[in-house]
Amino acid sequence: MPSKNPPDARDLIDKLSGAFPGVLFQLLRSPRGRYRFPFASRGILELFEASPGKVLKNASPLFAAMHPEDRDGAAASLEESARLLLPWRREFRVVLAKQGIRWRLGDAKPERLEDGGTLWHGSFLDITDRRRAEEALAESEDMFKLFLEHSPIYVFFKDHEIRSVRLSRNYEKMLGMPIGEILGKTMDELFPSDFAKSMIADDLKVLKEGEMVEVEEEFGGRFFTTIKFPIIRKGKPPLLAGFTIDVTERKNLEAQLRQAQKMEAVGQLAGGIAHDFNNLITVITGYGELLLSKHPESDPERPCIEEILKAGDRAARLTRQLLAFSRKQVLKPQVVSLNDIVEGMGGMLERLIGGNILLESSVDPCLWPVLVDPSQIEQVIMNLAVNSRDAMPEGGSLTLSTSNVTLGEDFVRDHKGSRPGPHAVLTVRDTGTGMDEATASHVFEPFYTTKETGKGTGLGMATVYGIVKQSGGYIAVESAVGKGTTVRIYFPRAGMGR
Ligand SMILES: Nc1ncnc2c1ncn2[C@@H]1O[C@H](COP(=O)(O)OP(=O)(O)OP(=O)(O)O)[C@@H](O)[C@H]1O
Ligand SMILES: [Mg+2]
Repeated sequence: MPSKNPPDARDLIDKLSGAFPGVLFQLLRSPRGRYRFPFASRGILELFEASPGKVLKNASPLFAAMHPEDRDGAAASLEESARLLLPWRREFRVVLAKQGIRWRLGDAKPERLEDGGTLWHGSFLDITDRRRAEEALAESEDMFKLFLEHSPIYVFFKDHEIRSVRLSRNYEKMLGMPIGEILGKTMDELFPSDFAKSMIADDLKVLKEGEMVEVEEEFGGRFFTTIKFPIIRKGKPPLLAGFTIDVTERKNLEAQLRQAQKMEAVGQLAGGIAHDFNNLITVITGYGELLLSKHPESDPERPCIEEILKAGDRAARLTRQLLAFSRKQVLKPQVVSLNDIVEGMGGMLERLIGGNILLESSVDPCLWPVLVDPSQIEQVIMNLAVNSRDAMPEGGSLTLSTSNVTLGEDFVRDHKGSRPGPHAVLTVRDTGTGMDEATASHVFEPFYTTKETGKGTGLGMATVYGIVKQSGGYIAVESAVGKGTTVRIYFPRAGMGR
């Protein structure tokens, strides 16, 4: 049937509300607080699975459809809207037989009636999709926040003006200020100027050329590897994102490993040479002695032959040191206390170091026994003492001490070549010149010396190293220019599976 033109009011309402993607309604609250819907469009069937007729006399089917957790809040907000005559707007869940849990938005304006009742005109809309999208977004933001909170690597986002916009929590420790203060600051404000400059140059490269950059950085005495890349966004300036890993530990271990490999290679070389050399010296001294026996005391050529033999003797001593370094010596190990060795050497050491150096020793009376060749350990102590003496031309103090220590996995991981377990430690400490990093890194190499020609052969520490290694021990040198030198030697406790 063709509709009237223009339609009457009832017809208009029917048509409009039929086209409306939700429910249009009139809600009435009686002065006694009872609710009903004098009008509800047919959309209520879909949104609340109730017919307009069912809520005409009593709104309770609609309240009943509300989620139990949202019902009281919705009712209270309606009461408030009625009292203050303020617009009502509320998001709430419904639990429906067919559709399950869904989200609805109620929106209505109240007016006061003559009898004291309240009448709202408004709408309900289905906002399930929007709410679910918001929840998914909140969930992913939540996850991202937790990621930044707990990430063990450093994660950062910067805007196109190279200001930090998001950061992982661990930056607080690195920079020593709360994240809130770091955000928005430029790199100049956060890092030393040289470092900031190179960082900004890298950042600009990433943003301008749109390429990933990988850099090695050094900051606060630690080493980092950083990877940064651009994030291009539609209709927005690009972002820069990246992460930074602290590689200090790894770098140290690599350096230690290189050092150990070098010592191994040099040791083999030195051992090989010393062996051949020893054979030659045996020939030289053998024939030298033969010659000597054929020349009577009065023979003017005798002094020449004696010089040859003296030189042969010195050469033999050198090769013995080389053999010690390359760990090719014959050791006569026995179970002893390092304390006995240290105490037995007192007098000799005092003569060795001279009058202007104070010799002190403190031994642990409960020191664990070790399995070593005592005469070799004496040689170790002598070499160390001579080095200390040479490092203290103006005097100072030399301290020998012993103690027990049990090396843990952490120590072993950071000190390549050491082994876990109980050890007796011999510590030789001087207050001398100390060594710079370069010297310290070469100190165990044979023939490495900083002393003038004729003063040192550079075999002292190489010998020490060889003896310690061959005895199953571990040696660590701690030194800095002007701060003196501390040498610690760890010998495994005897009787513990050795
Ligand atoms: N206690 C120390 N204080 C400062 N520097 C040291 C110390 N011990 C060793 N060094 C440095 O390490 C270098 C190597 O020591 P090493 O004992 O191997 O050789 P040397 O003392 O030079 O010669 P040699 O011991 O063969 O007579 C020394 O030349 C010195 O520079
Ligand atoms: Mg020396």
